[in-house]
Amino acid sequence: MRLFPSLLSADFSSLEKSISPLEKAGFKDMHLDIMDGHFVPNISYGPPVVESIVKRFPDLNLDAHLMMDNPRLLFEKFLQLGVKLISIHAEIEPDINWFQECCRNYNASLGLVFNPDTSITDYANKIRKVDYVLLMSVQPGFGGQTFQPDVLEKISTLRSYFQGPVQIDGGINAETIKIAAGAGVDWFVAGSAVFGAEDPVAAAKSLLKEAEAAVS
Ligand code: DX5
Ligand code: ZN
Repeated sequence: MRLFPSLLSADFSSLEKSISPLEKAGFKDMHLDIMDGHFVPNISYGPPVVESIVKRFPDLNLDAHLMMDNPRLLFEKFLQLGVKLISIHAEIEPDINWFQECCRNYNASLGLVFNPDTSITDYANKIRKVDYVLLMSVQPGFGGQTFQPDVLEKISTLRSYFQGPVQIDGGINAETIKIAAGAGVDWFVAGSAVFGAEDPVAAAKSLLKEAEAAVS
């Protein structure tokens, strides 16, 4: 099981201070929300910020979640910067072969993301070509929303043809992480539950513990 703190809820005026304690505590996975203001009604940050993070924290496994109508625009750029995991939304009907090839060249993992109301039914062929599947448990665009448990119903269908990691993103906290873990989720993204906590390291540790306890 892996926990990906989502930087969207960090203090953007001092990212170094937000990331450093987590990194020192051994949390090497970090989720980056890249928003274009079109696919979602919000804009976050882009390559220059990611470049600074990579320079300061070269050992992090950065996971870029591209909420973009045209992810090809920056896809290779993020890989060049050293992002290790990168996901694109199924709703934009991506040409998976192109993205897969690009990831291979950089030894990175490709993820396919599904919004809460997007059915996975017609996507088996595309899902078989990616390394991980990200199930959105809130409408993408903003942190701090309420977890939608219905999305977990997708997992049983998914598991009939996909054995790779399933990641979940949106509304994950000490309670919902147990439900998601119990339903078979492997990777958890948490923004406000980590960076909104008084002690983000303690919060991240306890989230992982809850998830592990739910399946032991
Ligand atoms: C929402 C983003 C999430 C967000 C999650 O569009 O994809 O990664 O940071 O935030 P929380 O964990 O607060 O729901
Ligand atoms: Zn995200």
